[in-house]
Amino acid sequence: MSELAILGGPKTRTEPYPAWPVWDQRDIDAVTEVIKSGRWGGYPYPGPKTAELARKFSEMQGGGYAVPMINGTVTMEVALRAAGIGWGDEVIVPAYTFQATASAPMGAGAIPVIVDVDPSTYCLDAKAAEKAITPKTKAIIPVHLGSNMADMDAIMALARSAKHNLIVIEDCAHAHGAKWNGRGAGTIGHFGSFSLQSSKTLTSGEGGILLCKSAEHAALAASVIDCGRPHALGGGGEDANGLAVQGGNFRMSEMQSALALVGIERFPEQAKQREAMAAYMDEALSEIPGVRVLKRDERHTTRSFYRYIFAIDPQEFGMEHDILCGALDAEGIDCWTGYNAMHKYDLFQPQKSKLAVPNAFPEYFDFKNMNLPEATRACEHEAVWLDEAIFREGPKGVDDAIAAIKKIQAHVKELNEAAEELRNQYGR
Ligand SMILES: Cc1ncc(COP(=O)(O)O)c(C=O)c1O
Repeated sequence: MSELAILGGPKTRTEPYPAWPVWDQRDIDAVTEVIKSGRWGGYPYPGPKTAELARKFSEMQGGGYAVPMINGTVTMEVALRAAGIGWGDEVIVPAYTFQATASAPMGAGAIPVIVDVDPSTYCLDAKAAEKAITPKTKAIIPVHLGSNMADMDAIMALARSAKHNLIVIEDCAHAHGAKWNGRGAGTIGHFGSFSLQSSKTLTSGEGGILLCKSAEHAALAASVIDCGRPHALGGGGEDANGLAVQGGNFRMSEMQSALALVGIERFPEQAKQREAMAAYMDEALSEIPGVRVLKRDERHTTRSFYRYIFAIDPQEFGMEHDILCGALDAEGIDCWTGYNAMHKYDLFQPQKSKLAVPNAFPEYFDFKNMNLPEATRACEHEAVWLDEAIFREGPKGVDDAIAAIKKIQAHVKELNEAAEELRNQYGR
């Protein structure tokens, strides 16, 4: 019998990793209090729990005016709308990210311009962004991906240059608590967008928070998510219906805010452990031939992350990343090959969708002729995304993952012989 779990052998790990989200009596009490108060929803905005969440979250990240809302996609659309960016404007996004980073500009009527990532971090490459700037470019959305941060010094220098003067929206869906040069993710650009969706390291089940550098932007954002109702500093006065801007209902509810507030109490301890265990993982992985630990930039002063990503060199490691991930999963190590590169998203293509932006500007969606080698290599061959629970368990969680990787590599020949059948069985 094979020693590999994916080929019928024993698993490295039989116990599941700890579940997420974690909860205790505090969560039950917090939601119960909201239920008993009768103030469940987000109207009038913000409710008391939501106002408290806004205060505590900006304290946690170290700055900005926080505007809680329904998710971490709308946050980016709202940021663009608050900044006056819309129809036909170009917004630069990285090729290796969740589809939301490109969908959000389209929600605001803007065109996502996809650029390649830096292979050392898999985050937006500032040089590629610079090359993509045209007179129509209005914003850049760097994503702090997995366990890394985009080079915020280079991106801010580019955005601030008198020639360009661009808005920067940091997509921090993976970077709650992370810091760059001691400054919190999301407080460096004009806006920071956070997701509180259930898998994220701070969660309210669903939810999002937009951090705004300026009070004006925050007030406009609050109006956009509150059906256009004027909020302090909303700007521009009101129309005949008493509305400040065209908006919709994207308000966060009081129950969600109550859960996020308990999550903030737990967060510092969890982040500390995650950071220590990521360093432990870096060291252990760096000894495995064919594994490339992604670069921890020295300016990335606090690493608080959502998924830990490393890369393999398929030639040197001995197999492609999909085979490694399939085998790791079977060994009981929760992992994934990661996102598809953005130009592989068929549904953004004009001939497949009725989305307004791709149909109005099809020349930007000629994906077949886009050359994005780094994102393509990451998504098709190299990247391995390890689940955060591996780190939350402590050293044993990491040791098990390392033992499984070594075990799989020791059986490279056997696995490669079965690769075709495994791909048929499990898909990508
Ligand atoms: C990089 C990135 N941006 C944005 C989002 C969107 O967040 P939400 O699911 O809260 O809309 C996610 C969520 O998975 C994400 O991973």
